[in-house]
Amino acid sequence: MKKIKVEIDKTLGVITQEQVYAQAKQAEAANLALEQKTGKGSDFLGWVPLPSSITSADLADIQATADKLRATCEVVVVVGIGGSYLGAKAVIEALSGSFDVLENKKPVVVYAGHNIGEDYLYELSGYLKNKKFGIINISKSGTTTEPALAFRILKKQLEEAAGKAEAKERIVAITDKARGALRTLADKEGYKTYVIPDDVGGRFSVLTPVGLLPVAVAGIDIKQLVEGAVSMEKATSSDVPFAENLAAIYAATRNELYKSGKKIEILANFNPKLHYVSEWWKQLYGESEGKEHKGIFTASVDLTTDLHSMGQWIQEGERSIFETVISVAQPDHHVEVPEDEQDLDGLNFLAGRRVDHVNKMAELGTQQAHVDGGVPNIRIEVPELNANYVGQLLYFFERACGISGYLLGVNPFDQPGVEAYKKNMFKLLNKPGY
Ligand code: PA5
Repeated sequence: MKKIKVEIDKTLGVITQEQVYAQAKQAEAANLALEQKTGKGSDFLGWVPLPSSITSADLADIQATADKLRATCEVVVVVGIGGSYLGAKAVIEALSGSFDVLENKKPVVVYAGHNIGEDYLYELSGYLKNKKFGIINISKSGTTTEPALAFRILKKQLEEAAGKAEAKERIVAITDKARGALRTLADKEGYKTYVIPDDVGGRFSVLTPVGLLPVAVAGIDIKQLVEGAVSMEKATSSDVPFAENLAAIYAATRNELYKSGKKIEILANFNPKLHYVSEWWKQLYGESEGKEHKGIFTASVDLTTDLHSMGQWIQEGERSIFETVISVAQPDHHVEVPEDEQDLDGLNFLAGRRVDHVNKMAELGTQQAHVDGGVPNIRIEVPELNANYVGQLLYFFERACGISGYLLGVNPFDQPGVEAYKKNMFKLLNKPGY
C-alpha cells in the first residue's frame, strides 16, 4: 500500500522552509510527549497507540455485532453528537456509493441525536414507521442532552413496534465502562455494550467501537481501515525524523502560517464524498485548539461546487486564510466526456477525456489562482478512496492535531468551552440544580 503525501511548497513565499524546519525540534518533542504522556492533557492520550493495540478478537466481536444488525435491520439509527458520530459519518460517506441511500441498500444508516430539531425527529419517526430498525446509541459521558433526548423517543418507538425483548436485541450502547446514565440504562436493560476507553476523548474516538461499529454496519471493511491507521501510526511516530514525518510537517507548517497572520484554515476537497471528512476535521482541530483566545478557525469548502459561492471570498477577500486541499489521485470509476455532433455547449475539445482529468485541471487552476491571490496552499494527496487510505488519513490528522496543539501551547484534549451553553440551557429549562 502506498502512503498519503503532504506537500507544503505552495505555502513558501508567505512563510519559508527555514521557518518550518526551525520548528523541527519542538515538533519532535511534542510528538514524543504524545507517546510518553508528558504533555498537557496526558490522561487523554489513549488514541496515540490505539490502532496497533486493536486485536483481531476486538474486530471480530465488532464485526459479529454489525453482522447481526445487518441481518435483522432494514435501517440502523446511529445516535450521537460531535465526536460520537462525525467519525463514523465521515468514513461511511467517503466509502459508500453516492446513491446507496436512494437505492435502499440494506441496512440504511441514518443519524439522530446530533441536533434538537423537532421536525427532524418527527420525520425520522415517520420514516422508521413499519420498518425493522435498530439503534446504536453512542455517548461517552452518557449524559449529553441531544442524544439522550433522541434515544428516549426512538427507544419508545422501537419497544412499541417490536416489543421490549426484541428491541433489546436491536439496541447497542457504546459508552463509559462504569459512569453515566447510558451505562446504568444499558446494564439495566441488558443491551450489548462497547466501552469507550477513559483515555480517549470523543473527537479522537473514530477508531474505537464509536466509529468501527457503525462503519462495519455500513458494510465497510474495518480491518482495512485499522490497517491503514496502523501504518500511519508507524509513519508518524516520534522515531521518524521531522523531514519524513508528515504529521509533524503539517503541524509545523500550519502553526507558522498562523503566526504569519493566517488565522483561518479552509479544508478543501475536489470529491463530494469527502464532505463529512471535513466536518470531522473541523471538530477535531476546532475543539482541540480553539482555547485561551488562540487557535486557527477551521472552515471547509467542497470544490468545485463552492467555487461558485465562496470562490470569490477565497480569491479576493481578507488575506487571513490558508487552504489545505485533499486531493484523491485516482477515482474508482471511469467516465469519459462523449463526442456530440452539434457541440452546442462547445465541449467537444474535451471529448474522449476523463471527467477526472477536467477535475484535476480545475484543481490545479484553482491552486494557481489562490496561491497567486495570496492564499498559501497545503496539498494532501490520497492515492484513492479505500478503507486503508481513509484509515491513514484519519490517523494522520489526529496525530498532527496533537502535535499542532502542543506547538500552539494549549491542551488539545479538553473542551471546557462547550459547557457554557449547556449551563445556560439547563437554567432556562429549570433543570434541578441549575
Ligand atoms: O470531542 C468531544 O469530546 C465532544 O465532541 C463529544 O464527542 C460530544 O460532546 C459528545 O459527547 P458524549 O459522547 O459524551 O455524548
